[in-house]
Amino acid sequence: MDVRAALLFVHLVSAVLGVGPIMGLVVVARGGGSSPAVAISISNALLRLTNWGLLAMVLSGLALLYQAQWIQVNAWWLRIGVLLACVVGMGLGLAQSALRQAKRDPSRVDSILSRVATLSWISVAAVVATVALMALKPF
Ligand code: HEM
Repeated sequence: MDVRAALLFVHLVSAVLGVGPIMGLVVVARGGGSSPAVAISISNALLRLTNWGLLAMVLSGLALLYQAQWIQVNAWWLRIGVLLACVVGMGLGLAQSALRQAKRDPSRVDSILSRVATLSWISVAAVVATVALMALKPF
């Protein structure tokens, strides 16, 4: 197996297993049939997983760029894709700080979970757009 194929493999596995669970975060934060306390603790666990997943995406993405001698750095599909990956990171970061608020003020758990669901939806949309750009490379 050549190095590029191996790096692409890591990048794609990180996308599926590490970033994919953001969709699960939407389901859990919207209630998912569990009590708010359970939803908060599962959301925290999913956020930890997706943070590591996103880090793996960035590192494997940088390794892919390095391996191709940074030639794709000038391509707009990559620039916008990286920007959208930052939007995903921001969405997850804001969701994490909302969950920390829930610990301090349990009376606001419901509104905080709905904020986490909204932020997760934004992150899901940004992930879909990133995959479209990186897979299709339209420009
Ligand atoms: C939400 C985060 C990300 C997702 C979901 C994602 C997804 C993908 C997907 C699905 C591909 C496959 C393209 C193909 O098969 O041709 C890909 C390729 C690639 N990605 Fe990402 N990516 C993300 C973040 C990043 C970041 C942060 C970087 C750079 C720092 C990056 C750099 C690359 C590069 C260089 C390729 C290879 C393109 C090629 O030459 O075929 N990605 N990405």
